[in-house]
Amino acid sequence: MQKILNVDFLGCPDAPAASPEKIDGIYEGLISGKEAFTGWATLPGRANAAETARIREAAGRIRAQSEALVVIGIGGSYLGARAAMEILGRYGAEPGAPEVLFAGQNISGTYHAELLDRLRGKDVSLCVVSKSGTTTEPNIAFAVLKELLAEKYGKAEAAGRIYAITDPSAGTLRAEADAEGYESFSIPPDIGGRYSVLTPVGLLPMAAAGIDVEAVLAGARRAGELDLRAVAGTMAATRKALLDSGKTVEIFEQYEPALFYFAEWLKQLHGESEGKDGTGLFPAALSFSTDLHSMGQFLQEGKQIFFETVLDVKEPQRDLTVPAGADALLAGKSMNAVNRAAKEGVIAAHRAAGIPVIKVGIPDLSPATFGQLIYFFELVCAFTGRLMGVDPFNQPGVEQYKKEMKRLLAE
Ligand code: PA5
Repeated sequence: MQKILNVDFLGCPDAPAASPEKIDGIYEGLISGKEAFTGWATLPGRANAAETARIREAAGRIRAQSEALVVIGIGGSYLGARAAMEILGRYGAEPGAPEVLFAGQNISGTYHAELLDRLRGKDVSLCVVSKSGTTTEPNIAFAVLKELLAEKYGKAEAAGRIYAITDPSAGTLRAEADAEGYESFSIPPDIGGRYSVLTPVGLLPMAAAGIDVEAVLAGARRAGELDLRAVAGTMAATRKALLDSGKTVEIFEQYEPALFYFAEWLKQLHGESEGKDGTGLFPAALSFSTDLHSMGQFLQEGKQIFFETVLDVKEPQRDLTVPAGADALLAGKSMNAVNRAAKEGVIAAHRAAGIPVIKVGIPDLSPATFGQLIYFFELVCAFTGRLMGVDPFNQPGVEQYKKEMKRLLAE
């Protein structure tokens, strides 16, 4: 029996847009197969057993041949796998899994030089992810890491250590994968990067790290069931009502460092989906209690342009007892209990200051709960975009800087 997410709305405005009929209508459109880039909406329910089996086989080969797997990608081709590794990669993963490292999510020479140093004495495989196959950052990192593999193993063996995830037919990465005989997987053309975690983009790195991908998919299916879909609808309508009331910033807050990259994934999902046509909530993220010591002042007394979405993990993976050497108030207590007191204390203080809070109760950090979280927030985002009247599946604005960068490089 899966444990289920739950959401509390504290001090939030009523959300009339959440009429069940309206949300049902939006959902029917998403799963109709008639709306562009909505393939993700039906993905958990139509998980392809043959493809999942091939992902598992490839993952087994990666584990057998490597001490380190480098996942190369950026944005939607990176953040989901990174979030999964941080949450699930350290607990419950099979022993013997390779260390999973990331490249191509920045253009820093220092980062990539240090990564090469770290990889030199190790057996390495690469998982290169790019839907377009033309993105600058992964393009550079892939070239750098291919060279390392060719030096280590020779070109032929190197090709057997490269796994490409890209468009089924278009782009230079697809052409190279086919020409060089890399094992490859396809990103369905009707699924955009930020909605692609439950495709091979997220599933292959997860499986290579020994994470139970069937459990992740089962969790995603659970999030699509009527009760959680209705909660996602209420959350979407509440977010829209908060925006309409002048709260233009949504701050995702977590008290478990393992959720740092999940919050980064949320920032991309919501920022790219809703920030267009002059509207949208600006998504921000804070790590507590760390950031209470830097941003706590602003939250409590600064300009009230925001509301808070608290990611509230009920059962963290591990705990410690605070030893007698600490202050009397703390000694003997469970560290998680102290963390919980910090969380409830912050919520009480912020509620007293009139800050609206959406509290997302996350039962645990298991693969099934991770799957629920992914699909639940994809629904929240798609519903909110539709309620805001924007297209939550395009990102026309991200092309502008790329044009400018290419112009400067050509000069
Ligand atoms: O969500 C998106 O569409 C983007 O973040 C892309 O995933 C990102 O720009 C990487 O693109 P690509 O997978 O084509 O390399």
